Amino acid sequence: MPNKTTSSASLGEKVSPSSEFKKQATVKSMAEYKRLYAESVSDPEKFWNAQAKELLFWRKPWKQTLEWKEPQAKWFVGGKLNVCENCVDRHVGTPRENKAALIFEGEPGDQQTLTYKQLHVEVCKFANVLESRGIKKGDRIAIYMPMTCEAVVAMLASARIGAIHTVIFGGFSSESIKDRVNDCQAKLVVTADGGWRRGSVVDLKMHVNRAIQDCPTVETVVVVKRIGNTRVSMKTGRDYWYHTVMEGASHKHTAKAFDAETPLFILYTSGSTGKPKGVLHTSGGYLLGTTMTSKYVFDLKDSDTYWCTADIGWITGHSYVTYGILSNGATNLIYEGAPNYPDVNRFWDIVERHRVTIFYTAPTAIRAFMKWGDHHVKKHDLSSLRLLGSVGEPINPEAWKWYYKTIGGGRCPIVDTWWQTETGAIMITTLPGAAYSKPGSAGLPFFGVVPKVFNDAGEEVKKGESGKLVLTQPWPSMLRGLYGDRKRYKETYWSEYKGIYFCGDGCRQDKDGYFWIVGRIDDVLNVSGHRIGTAEVESALVSHGAVAESAVVGRPHELKGSAVVCFVTLKEGVEPTDELRRELREHVGEEIGAIAKPDEVRFAPALPKTRSGKIMRRLLKDIAAGREIAQDTTTLEDLNVVKALQKG
Ligand code: WTA
Repeated sequence: MPNKTTSSASLGEKVSPSSEFKKQATVKSMAEYKRLYAESVSDPEKFWNAQAKELLFWRKPWKQTLEWKEPQAKWFVGGKLNVCENCVDRHVGTPRENKAALIFEGEPGDQQTLTYKQLHVEVCKFANVLESRGIKKGDRIAIYMPMTCEAVVAMLASARIGAIHTVIFGGFSSESIKDRVNDCQAKLVVTADGGWRRGSVVDLKMHVNRAIQDCPTVETVVVVKRIGNTRVSMKTGRDYWYHTVMEGASHKHTAKAFDAETPLFILYTSGSTGKPKGVLHTSGGYLLGTTMTSKYVFDLKDSDTYWCTADIGWITGHSYVTYGILSNGATNLIYEGAPNYPDVNRFWDIVERHRVTIFYTAPTAIRAFMKWGDHHVKKHDLSSLRLLGSVGEPINPEAWKWYYKTIGGGRCPIVDTWWQTETGAIMITTLPGAAYSKPGSAGLPFFGVVPKVFNDAGEEVKKGESGKLVLTQPWPSMLRGLYGDRKRYKETYWSEYKGIYFCGDGCRQDKDGYFWIVGRIDDVLNVSGHRIGTAEVESALVSHGAVAESAVVGRPHELKGSAVVCFVTLKEGVEPTDELRRELREHVGEEIGAIAKPDEVRFAPALPKTRSGKIMRRLLKDIAAGREIAQDTTTLEDLNVVKALQKG
């Protein structure tokens, strides 16, 4: 007997799309999904070859679809294209040219719309500006910007001239900017005189000024006048106002064709050890992955107004604000500010005013809206919405159901999308017109993706059992490496199981083939949908003069997913005071950024270690969560340490 399937009113374990949605969807049935999926994995090269021809504009065809020398993939070898031309130029001269490409809303309420034709002009001008500052193919440029049209223009202009951008999230500190700029040796930085966040000014230029005192490779800083900040200090001969250099720039720029494997961007993301690693993506494969998933997963149509709430500082902002969405010629809304400014209904106000049809956000935001109460939502007409998306962390069924009923009015399918900075594009989800959803499960593999759940010995576990999530086939939008660190690339992703990509997540697959992501099983925390390495927070803490040693773990948190809990031992003679606690929180904020600030700092006389000197993290996790200690403590060097920690 088939399992119970529900459409809207009473939510059972399966929720199917309505027949109206199915009828208009790109993929209309499970049978169609299964047929396409089978094609995509039985002869992947044939499949990707056809998709690349259909979805992208190439200047020169490729000779070979995939060259796979594990763990190094090259896709569309010998093919040439220009990523920016695909996202912008190809819509100009078509009926799309006068439709809005970007609709910007600033936190204070100011608005700007750029049609594809206007976006083309801006991008050409900025490409000329970059070239006039000596930026060439392969040079790195850093973008540290609020969510504005200029930020997207900067990314596209970089792509247009074959430069490599690294976008640094506007919430990161000067120290983080410095590390990233120096790691990739950026020659130019694009920033703004500030941005708005919850009514306050984020002083971006000041952070850049501090950071690049120690960045010898930076020759030019281009500054967008966003807020009219009079305190901004500009250095003659290095710093230029965006509006001034744009004024003199030609709007004509010929896009060159670049090899499909030309690096497109580096995006730094946290790992389980050391400093953030620079995930490298290249052009053809990445653009294909993001274009195709945008089209199928978001069911994008020319009539849609799409809004993804992610900042361009994260991979979601790269793939599903800039590249995948614009490549499809869609109308893309971007919003600068906080979801609760001036009031907690800001998002719904935006959806109503702009008649947003597709809305993509993170579970942490959904849980916050739930807590703030339905009445803030009910004030708004959200009938324009037709599809909802979720990304960044597992969505708990309760939040899923609230999202479905209260935001989607029981009418909109939800695509829960599992993927990573490294995968470049969505890997697991339910195609909205084809498959039913199960609240809490990301769903089924996207075309060409072959996920499996392995045990430690590298065998596939039985359905229903938990294990480690791996991807067994190369895919076009996969990372090509970690910038400047081949060894770390291999060790991080390809050494757990030989020749197979391990993503760092725990998972189980149910009898229907649906994947349920359990969360990170390495030393990476997912705090409000953002990856934070415990090692990074630990090294930030020990860089403070009072700290001798630290261990950082996550504790389940109702809104944030994970809270950051730090166990700290102090240097001889330092007093453990509340004042010091506050100081350490601020210190981590300055070293990394506000998102990494500890929720709790616990002082301890010593940390629990094995006889071989390894910190026993599982035990600390149990202590942080107030759970009973599950771990065998016989290897513990000193049992008294645990007693002291539990008391503290
Ligand atoms: C987690 C964000 C469950 C996961 C696109 C992954 C998710 C990490 C989901 C990547 C989801 C992302 N369900 N977990 N739908 N989406 N994750 O690189 O732990 O910032 O490994 O990329 O987020 O985070 P990243």
